[in-house]
Amino acid sequence: MDNLKDMKNSVEEIGHNAQGQTTGSYLKEGEDIAGTMEVIFSVNEEVGALAKALRLFESHKINLTHIESRPSKRNRDQYEFFVRFDPEAPGVKSALEALRSSAASVQVHSRDTTTENSVPWFPRKIADLDRFANQILSYGSDLDSDHPGFTDAVYRARRKEFADIAFNYKHGQPIPRVEYTEQEINTWRKIFTELRKLFPTHACREHNYVFPLLMENCGFREDNIPQLEDVSNFLKDCTGFTLRPVAGLLSSRDFLAGLAFRVFHSTQYIRHYSKPMYTPEPDVCHELLGHAPLFADPSFAQFSQEIGLASLGAPDDFVMKLATLYWFTVEFGLCRQDGEVKAYGAGLLSSFGELQYCLTDKPDIRPFEPEKISVTKYPITEYQPIYFLADSFQDAKEKLRAWSHTIPRPFSVHYNPYTQSVEILDNKDHIVNLAANIKGDFDILVDALQKVKM
Ligand SMILES: [Fe+2]
Repeated sequence: MDNLKDMKNSVEEIGHNAQGQTTGSYLKEGEDIAGTMEVIFSVNEEVGALAKALRLFESHKINLTHIESRPSKRNRDQYEFFVRFDPEAPGVKSALEALRSSAASVQVHSRDTTTENSVPWFPRKIADLDRFANQILSYGSDLDSDHPGFTDAVYRARRKEFADIAFNYKHGQPIPRVEYTEQEINTWRKIFTELRKLFPTHACREHNYVFPLLMENCGFREDNIPQLEDVSNFLKDCTGFTLRPVAGLLSSRDFLAGLAFRVFHSTQYIRHYSKPMYTPEPDVCHELLGHAPLFADPSFAQFSQEIGLASLGAPDDFVMKLATLYWFTVEFGLCRQDGEVKAYGAGLLSSFGELQYCLTDKPDIRPFEPEKISVTKYPITEYQPIYFLADSFQDAKEKLRAWSHTIPRPFSVHYNPYTQSVEILDNKDHIVNLAANIKGDFDILVDALQKVKM
């Protein structure tokens, strides 16, 4: 019984990190689980319950590569087990059927979404985002041959420095401060100066409200590239959003999952000096001049988080639709304010050329309808031919929420800001707890309404 031997070793380290603190986590940090299937199941506490469940896997010839257990947080009379194995093993389907008929509850998580009834893995607590560092699709210093910095060895070495900072970053650490060079600051200066001229007339009200605060509090100046750490702390005070450095391209699924925790994966390097008004990828100018101001707005922050929450455990085709919705809102969104069209998308607010173009009569501007937006094709290297116009963030949020109910997912999720974790609402106890919390907030609201003279 190799499995039982594994179990003994694993059970001794359940939920404890190297310092012996309880982590409440099943998964080891940084471990890449692509190509594996993970199952969490609970059984009633009785002698031999685990051995019985493990025999079930053994009898279906499934070799478990990881086993952990802990008392169930959902039901005190139950024990919860976490196992990992190869989803390609021939007995997987029948083993899961047998497990479903004998266990009190079964949840299947998998990077491989082809398996019937499986839910793709997603982070459950904010520190789980550390695992994405090992799952980037390309390292930030690998430049394409048509990149303006491709033949510049100094620039490439600099990009590697930034990628290494992000790769080694762990949740909870301050984001390392960077001393930008004169050449880098000059590039920033050109962009900052030009965009500032357009913001008062082209940017949405929320952007124009926050921008002076960033100048006051975070060193937004033409002769200074702000530090991610300062901007992250500012955003945290405003809406709970934080920035996290990223070493390269993340998959849409991983990137959107960060938003569920109000975490925005941000680049820290700057574009190549030879083309200050062009960048083929996001850079610190795009993140700080385009994204950062909006994440300080409570309504926009909530809108962004809802896209992230909707993506957790969603099937691949719906993650693609959510990524498209993200593209046409957070990156290239327009909204109506006081009878005028204004830009709120970061791709617009960080592009001197497109910010002017998007408010002309050249592009096709369509009403905000998530169902249609989610299947609209878009180019990534030229100005957008189509934009979608939201009446307000509130209106966009309500429409997005209604649309996200069409995502086939066997559970609802709720973000708990106190523990910075995602709760899965798939059993009565969790739902009752949530209802009790809402009732508490509702009582406060009624009390406040009675005290405020309307
Ligand atoms: Fe962006």
